Amino acid sequence: MSEERLTDSDVDLSSVLVQALCRGLPAGKVSLDIHPDDEMLHFFIYSQGHPLEQAVPMYLESGKRIWATQRQVIAWKFGSPGWGGRILDFASGYGRVTRHIVAEVPAGSLWVADVNAEGVAFQQRALGVHGVVSTTDPERFRPEPPGTFDCILVSSLFTHLAEERFRGWLRRLGSLLSPGGLLLFSVHDLSLRRAGEPPPSGILFEATSESGSLAAEEYGTSWVSEAFVRSAIREAVGSCPVLRIPRGLASFQDLYLVLHDQDGGEPRPADAFAGLRLERHADGFVEHTSRAGERGLRLSGWAGDRVAGEPPREVRVRIDGELVAGCRDLAPRSIDLFAADPMPAVGWQVAIELPEGADADAARLAVSVVTRDGEELELYGDSILAALLRSAQLDAVALQGRLQREAAEHEALAADLWASQTRLAQREAQLDELGRRIRAMEASRFWKARNQWFKLKRLARLTTEP
Ligand SMILES: C[S@@+](CC[C@H](N)C(=O)[O-])C[C@H]1O[C@@H](n2cnc3c(N)ncnc32)[C@H](O)[C@@H]1O
Repeated sequence: MSEERLTDSDVDLSSVLVQALCRGLPAGKVSLDIHPDDEMLHFFIYSQGHPLEQAVPMYLESGKRIWATQRQVIAWKFGSPGWGGRILDFASGYGRVTRHIVAEVPAGSLWVADVNAEGVAFQQRALGVHGVVSTTDPERFRPEPPGTFDCILVSSLFTHLAEERFRGWLRRLGSLLSPGGLLLFSVHDLSLRRAGEPPPSGILFEATSESGSLAAEEYGTSWVSEAFVRSAIREAVGSCPVLRIPRGLASFQDLYLVLHDQDGGEPRPADAFAGLRLERHADGFVEHTSRAGERGLRLSGWAGDRVAGEPPREVRVRIDGELVAGCRDLAPRSIDLFAADPMPAVGWQVAIELPEGADADAARLAVSVVTRDGEELELYGDSILAALLRSAQLDAVALQGRLQREAAEHEALAADLWASQTRLAQREAQLDELGRRIRAMEASRFWKARNQWFKLKRLARLTTEP
């Protein structure tokens, strides 16, 4: 898609594809009001090259996955995401993640901040949250009304900062953390930079990013080592419990959890994170579900494991919790969804019979993948009827795409045919014209005299020309 400005009416949420892929969003709770200038939506369109109709579900799904991880950490620390403490979603953009947060957290206890004033105003309007316009210089950032936060969430900001700003924002956000508070932020680990020597400082910064609105020196792309992050946290907030979860955010960015030391004294014991178990989501997709006979189903799709970097070893299907199939016959499959972070993936196909007593429409169908180290991750779950509807919608979209492509090909062929016919008609007109001229020439006195002259020459055997 070319980079012309999107408008409100471009972001069409009624399309069949959006309907099919966004069924998992809690009905009526997650705002589907998407700002056409949202740079995270643009990322899926312009950087990853997806058509808008695919980019919208990807945008919504990615925000949902980020919040699914953040909410587990908050629930572990505070008991429930809506426990009533003050949460700051820092660098929240136009609310890709915030829209999922407010589905569970009262808007009155949620603050958003971003340097993009329109993004902040949009979230205030659309989501009803508190908004603060941020600054590039961390020292000048002043949330209103002044106060500290029990939880600060930062997804995909430190991934863009050079060393000075990285340290500066950790210091500033650390100073805004309430005693006993939690800071959760994401980074690119140096291992994601597949080329080159790791820098001795532990941070590599390149002044390039997809942002169309921020200066690249302020907002580029950075990669960091764990040692660098830990020392920056120590310098910013002192000795406090820190946990790194490699690829903990959407199977790509590392997550760092920082617990503010409540007593301001000795660091708490190493088991500060005991009991925290993060469930992650499988990478993959159920592409097809159809009935096979009265009580049979056929399913197929692909799966991967970006965290392990190795394909899963099994795909399992459950009906109402009962295991009905385990597929280990997995064929390598090339998936080009993550061009910058390629992963080995596999294709799978399963045929199942519904267990006795299971309702052929309402029973819950769940698909999971088993990773190489035996972890079972959910890939998909819904009622059988919903899975069939989703698959039929996906087929309809694929068919529509094929028909559109074929219609475009036919149109191109028809245009070629029209151009050839026009050229043919022009040639015929030219031939007619030439014929007319020849006939006129042959009727002229000069031609008749010429013919007489040649006749004489032929009689005199001076020429053989006709
Ligand atoms: C990659 S986006 C992530 C947005 C959001 N957290 C998400 O995951 O959808 C990074 C955001 O950081 C914002 N940003 C950059 N510098 C900032 C600063 N100094 N203060 C606050 N936000 C900033 C950008 O405007 C952008 O919206």
